[in-house]
Amino acid sequence: MKMLRTDFKNMLRDSVGRHGLSPAELQRLGRRAERCLAELKEERAKGRCPFLNLPYQKETAGEIKRIDRELRSWVKDFVVLGIGGSALGNIALHQALNPPYIGGHESPRIHVIDTIDPDLFDGLLKSLDLRHTAFNVISKSGTTVETVAQFLIVRERLKDSLGSTYPRHIITTTDPEDGDLRRLAEREGYRRLFIPKGVGGRYSVLSPVGLLSAAVSGINIDELLAGAAGMDKRCQKEAMEENPAMLGACLQYLSYKRGRHITVIMPYSSALEAVGEWFCQLWAESLGKKSSLKGKVIHCGPTPVRAVGPTDQHSQLQLYMEGPFDKIITFVAVERFKAQVEIPQSPEANFQYLSGHTLAGLMAAERRGTELALAEAGRPSYTIYLPELSAFYVGGLLYMFQVQTALAGKLFGINPFDQPGVEAGKAHTSTLLGKDKGTL
Ligand code: PA5
Repeated sequence: MKMLRTDFKNMLRDSVGRHGLSPAELQRLGRRAERCLAELKEERAKGRCPFLNLPYQKETAGEIKRIDRELRSWVKDFVVLGIGGSALGNIALHQALNPPYIGGHESPRIHVIDTIDPDLFDGLLKSLDLRHTAFNVISKSGTTVETVAQFLIVRERLKDSLGSTYPRHIITTTDPEDGDLRRLAEREGYRRLFIPKGVGGRYSVLSPVGLLSAAVSGINIDELLAGAAGMDKRCQKEAMEENPAMLGACLQYLSYKRGRHITVIMPYSSALEAVGEWFCQLWAESLGKKSSLKGKVIHCGPTPVRAVGPTDQHSQLQLYMEGPFDKIITFVAVERFKAQVEIPQSPEANFQYLSGHTLAGLMAAERRGTELALAEAGRPSYTIYLPELSAFYVGGLLYMFQVQTALAGKLFGINPFDQPGVEAGKAHTSTLLGKDKGTL
């Protein structure tokens, strides 16, 4: 079976000259990364870092499949209400695995609404037949203002149009013990799913947060989890060449230390554009920290930027080629696209070079051409090859990025699981809105 692999030769001095990394420094860092991995394994054994165990939740997967079967008999639209880590993973999965324009499947339409834009929200609600709509309210804390506001509006409209049967239309996904949403869901009799204790938003895509809407949209969640479990095995290996998460963490960390503070993620696949967006949140919120674990003020963190190929060859690439030497680029290549679209023979002499090629071949040539041009300009990049866009490989890719982030956090000496900066903003917003300390 083919596996996800990473080609990092264009990160090295041999390919990109003085802006590249030397194999010796990478090896030295590898020894430190091995110790970080050992620490992560130890924490896992003690029950910390529970996101690492998400691929193995058989019972939860069973419960989600049961809910999915029931919903399918009456739901035409399935709406996720949530934001940040409670939405981006869902969007990433749907975009990656439910390509648009391909009809013929019976699954409900999925809408992931990670905004409170009034026009968008009102427009969506007015477009829905509420009798055939289910809402999945996702909030780990159960207090996030955007999600709470969305929920209150939805509940009111459901009550108005459906009367006392409205609770059937709401499924909450929240903390198993804490939070206002959990208490309210219990009191009002909604169906409830729980995010395992200690799994934070941006590490929760493989928990009920991402799994329910995935299942409802027809994604095979067993395959998704199997891919993640397979990747878990690889991410436990000590040798950097065998462990894609450790390799990624080391390449990223060393580049940052060498002044390349911007990291661009550029999949050559429209389906993976939202995986780029999800990765940016994971990377930024996990690694952008003021203080080290030792309490020293360090203000560290790479700035993630998303791009998509080939579209951004005609937008961002000029900057990456000739701008400041402050970036590295992670390409994500899909080795086998589903559709084989041939470019036909052309009677026009100037276009004949394209004849006989496929769009996938053109995509690969453009990516490789870009990699080569960047390397010639002394710009480091590396490429993650995904054998195909299936639930198995996408599950593995997302899991790998999460482990890479946890390991990078250790290399940076920070806590990659908290987000004090985000919490501060949330607190100010609540104060501005006059929230007092009521409990449900
Ligand atoms: O990754 C995170 O922890 C955050 O992005 C949260 O997911 C986001 O702030 C939403 O929080 P909650 O799920 O508690 O509503």
